[in-house]
Amino acid sequence: MALAKFLADLEALEQSGQAALDKARNAADVEAARIELLGARSGRLKVIQKQLGQIDKADKPVAGKRFNEVKCRLETRFQEMLQTFAAGSAAVATDGEIFDLTVPGRKHRLGHLHPITQTINALQEIMGRLGFSVAEGPEVEDPWHNFDALHIPLSHPARDPLDNFYLATAQNASGLLLRSQTSTVQIRVMESTPPPVRIISLGRVYRPDTADATHYPMFHQIEGLLIDRHVTMADLKSVLRLFATSYLGSEVHIRFRPSFFPFTEPSVEVDMSWHEGWIEMGGAGMVDPAVLTAVGYDPEEVTGFAFGLGVERICMRRHGITDIRELYRNDVRFLEQF
Ligand code: FA5
Repeated sequence: MALAKFLADLEALEQSGQAALDKARNAADVEAARIELLGARSGRLKVIQKQLGQIDKADKPVAGKRFNEVKCRLETRFQEMLQTFAAGSAAVATDGEIFDLTVPGRKHRLGHLHPITQTINALQEIMGRLGFSVAEGPEVEDPWHNFDALHIPLSHPARDPLDNFYLATAQNASGLLLRSQTSTVQIRVMESTPPPVRIISLGRVYRPDTADATHYPMFHQIEGLLIDRHVTMADLKSVLRLFATSYLGSEVHIRFRPSFFPFTEPSVEVDMSWHEGWIEMGGAGMVDPAVLTAVGYDPEEVTGFAFGLGVERICMRRHGITDIRELYRNDVRFLEQF
């Protein structure tokens, strides 16, 4: 028998074997194909093996070697496939590709919310329980909402170009700036809503402060505003106390220091102490009657309080963060602790 014909038969057998394995959907499929091709009595390999005797003597070593290689390869592949199905670990996709379900998966790292976003969500939730709804305002503001309506006079240092990010565009004759405080939202809400009002606003504010452990040029404030009949400083303190104890726990202490803001009278600085010394969290006070008048409210009818606290300071206090810059370095090793 010619060597070429023998080798071609072997090649065809190997291809049939592979095709049968690709089609197999379960162990029974594999076993049926194995008996047909490799069966000890009448399998196709057996038939080819018998032809080996008719090969010319000179060609026998090549034919024999090739026969053994193909036999060995096919037996191994059938064996592996049977084991895979037996372990119940193979699933066959519709395109015939085989997945081994026991291979450990690749773990996807789940991200999570930035600590400031977590703080904002928690503060919104706490104030929501106290009946305050959320209001929003633009980050690019006009001087009316950032200064005039808040009674910050033209000569006031708070308007200084060195203390604000005025937009440097040719069209900016009106003096647009990145808002330096969320008190702008108080004005926007009162201009568009008749009293009573009970809102908070949380968002970014911008000041060209040099970054240090407690200052950053972009930070967040939580602004609160409550306008109604007979609102007093006692209400302000009660709400701030509830707010602080809900977020930090009952060991927190809160104190007011006399201060000055052009839009509140009287005005106070709000300090909080929790486990250690006092920290300034923000400002607050009774909304100045002149501001109420400017937005069309009647100061004889309604009164109200407002407060504005630094969200970073609150978050830092809660988590024992000693440097505000850590919050914005975006070092995952730091951020994933929260
Ligand atoms: C104000 O911004 C007033 N609008 C607060 C206010 C609202 C008073 C309503 C009365 C009524 P002040 O400039 O003090 O106040 O800022 C408030 C808080 O923002 C500060 O106490 C501090 O916690 C935080 N803060 C101020 N500057 C920075 C900064 N550069 N980086 C981080 N936090 C800051």
